[in-house]
Amino acid sequence: MKIIAYTVKGLEEVAKQEIQNLVREVNFVDLKPKRIVFETKYSKVLTDLKTVDDICLLLATGEISRVEDVLNIFRDINLKSAKEQIEQYRKVNNTFSVTFSLAKTKIKVEELQSSLSKVIGEDYNWEYTELDHSNFDIRVFIDNKELYVSVRLTEKPLFHRSYRTVSSKGGLRPSIANSMVKLATLGDKGIVVDNFCGSGTILAEAYLAGNDIFGGDIENMAVEATLQNLSNLGCKTESKIKRLDALKAPWKDKQFDFAVSNLPWDKQIEIKSVTDLYVGSLSEYARILKPDGRLCLLVSKPDLLIKHAKAFFPNKKIEKFQIGFLGQTPSIITII
Ligand SMILES: C[S@@+](CC[C@H](N)C(=O)[O-])C[C@H]1O[C@@H](n2cnc3c(N)ncnc32)[C@H](O)[C@@H]1O
Repeated sequence: MKIIAYTVKGLEEVAKQEIQNLVREVNFVDLKPKRIVFETKYSKVLTDLKTVDDICLLLATGEISRVEDVLNIFRDINLKSAKEQIEQYRKVNNTFSVTFSLAKTKIKVEELQSSLSKVIGEDYNWEYTELDHSNFDIRVFIDNKELYVSVRLTEKPLFHRSYRTVSSKGGLRPSIANSMVKLATLGDKGIVVDNFCGSGTILAEAYLAGNDIFGGDIENMAVEATLQNLSNLGCKTESKIKRLDALKAPWKDKQFDFAVSNLPWDKQIEIKSVTDLYVGSLSEYARILKPDGRLCLLVSKPDLLIKHAKAFFPNKKIEKFQIGFLGQTPSIITII
């Protein structure tokens, strides 16, 4: 069966690696920005993927430039048989929705939405639900002239996590947090620290991956959010999560194996001096990490961070991956 995995732009290789580790027999067909197409017989395990945003059954691909081209491709798809396949995973009723991701195309979402909802509704006698995407959700992904039509295997997007009952300003998408944990831990387990924990997404993903976790935030509200989200996982936090200033953290020297953090950037949270923030937090991470400790940091000014990271971690390899997330292009920096 042909599957398409949708990812955050820039994290395709991390997701490919996770798919390879999880699925016994897999044949990769296509890897392009934000999507990976592959074939496998073992599709049920795919819902366990953590670095992927959405996992779907691929129904058709094609070259298109007008709405009519998309409708022609839809006419050749047997949505009834696609629905029967989805019913092997979960119960579905006679409603459908459509999720659009359109880039570099003149086609307008509104026009496509109204034509598709009408055509599918009439051909199959199903009811279109614009707001509820939890039943039979058809995903239309267009990148320039390339069209991918697929249908979601799961009820909710794969990046959804039920432990996240509280969020805080600048909350990170769990699939990015999970990728960052993987980039730092490289399959090992240990003690992870996040001194900018916000609502605790990175710590939660690190905990779920079998690590011990410590961290905190300068805002009381963020610490409370983290405590709540971690307690939803049954994680005992005792004195491991605190209100703290990452520039003067209350941790012992050489206490941790990994530091994974999403540093604040101006668009989300006001900061006085980015240089002071980067230098102060790197200096603390250099102190509290073991000598062979590894870091993975998400930042808005990668070159500035790398310049200072070279001074604090002169013997480590530093790599940069730019990602695309909610219209912004921050970078993940690994210091290994
Ligand atoms: C981008 S957010 C982190 C979001 C988090 N990864 C999540 O998923 O919710 C950055 C966090 O850094 C915190 N912060 C800013 N300056 C800080 C400092 N000096 N020490 C500790 N935390 C700080 C902010 O309060 C904010 O919660």
